[in-house]
Amino acid sequence: MESTRKQLIELLNKKDGHISGQELSNQLNISRTAIWKHMNELKKDGYDIEAVQRKGYKILSSPDKMSENTLQWGLDTEWIGHQLFHYDQVESTQEIVHQMAKQGKPHGTVVIADEQVKGKGRMARKWDSPKGKGIWMSILLRPNLPPFKAPQLTLLAATVLAEMISERSALVPQIKWPNDLLIHHKKVSGILTEMQAEQDAIQYIVVGIGMNVNQNGEEIPEDIRHKASSLKNEAGEEWNIQETVQHILRLFERTYDQYESDGFEAIKANWEKHGYRIGEEVTISTMKRTWKATLVGIEPDGALCVRDRDGNHEKLYSAEIHWGEGGYHA
Ligand code: BTN
Repeated sequence: MESTRKQLIELLNKKDGHISGQELSNQLNISRTAIWKHMNELKKDGYDIEAVQRKGYKILSSPDKMSENTLQWGLDTEWIGHQLFHYDQVESTQEIVHQMAKQGKPHGTVVIADEQVKGKGRMARKWDSPKGKGIWMSILLRPNLPPFKAPQLTLLAATVLAEMISERSALVPQIKWPNDLLIHHKKVSGILTEMQAEQDAIQYIVVGIGMNVNQNGEEIPEDIRHKASSLKNEAGEEWNIQETVQHILRLFERTYDQYESDGFEAIKANWEKHGYRIGEEVTISTMKRTWKATLVGIEPDGALCVRDRDGNHEKLYSAEIHWGEGGYHA
């Protein structure tokens, strides 16, 4: 059952103008005094609510502190974030979404936390997720795709993050294969995609997005300071985390819908547009050999396509790439 308060905010969001106390009371089936009390509670929580005689109520702005209500306020999406859960502190949003997926929560469910105490990175690394400093969020997807196409969704998520940064700032984001977001050669964001699948069908996918937003330089752990940063640190100004999350969710939905209708081509082109050192020569090492090759682009299965000095093309699924000047190893 949705709480009355949540329904109240939804009704206020639906209307462009004011909505009368009577209409709210009819729709929610509670007294006008109860509506008035709820409005006072919302104001105490930091909502700026205008009350105009004979017209009714209107939300002018929502508070800075993240909550389910404030994140959903004005989100205006078709399917992403309709079920959205915000926590002050969790071990990992990733684990919560796995549980929710097993309980049958729908495509587009979002879990976000102010802080993670056991944030997970790729390859069993830990992901530092300090309180109120970044976006620690996992999205549940139930795509109608064969499992071999799952990597496309990770690449899609990386393009969404790059596009969001480009739209909100003058920063130039780059995507380092497979899916790290770099600004000025330093990692500001990473994506962890986990899949539950059968032989030929995906049951669900959890896309975990970690984005360093408002850490100051000295708040980045010392051992990774040479290779990691935050949006604030690179842009020189504080970011509004709530609005940034909403921007990501809107873009994610739009990009995903396009992908469903038009396929992977546009995602691939966009990824390559932002691709770190695409068209440049790097040194690559695998268990068997080390060689120089030019990064050509990405393949629909998420592999990195490279071309050696003799013109031979090769697909790489895992390799150590020596990114050279300013970069660091994959
Ligand atoms: C990487 O190693 O680059 C991926 C990092 C992914 C971190 C995010 S934060 C939200 C979600 N919950 C986690 O525990 N991890 C992912």
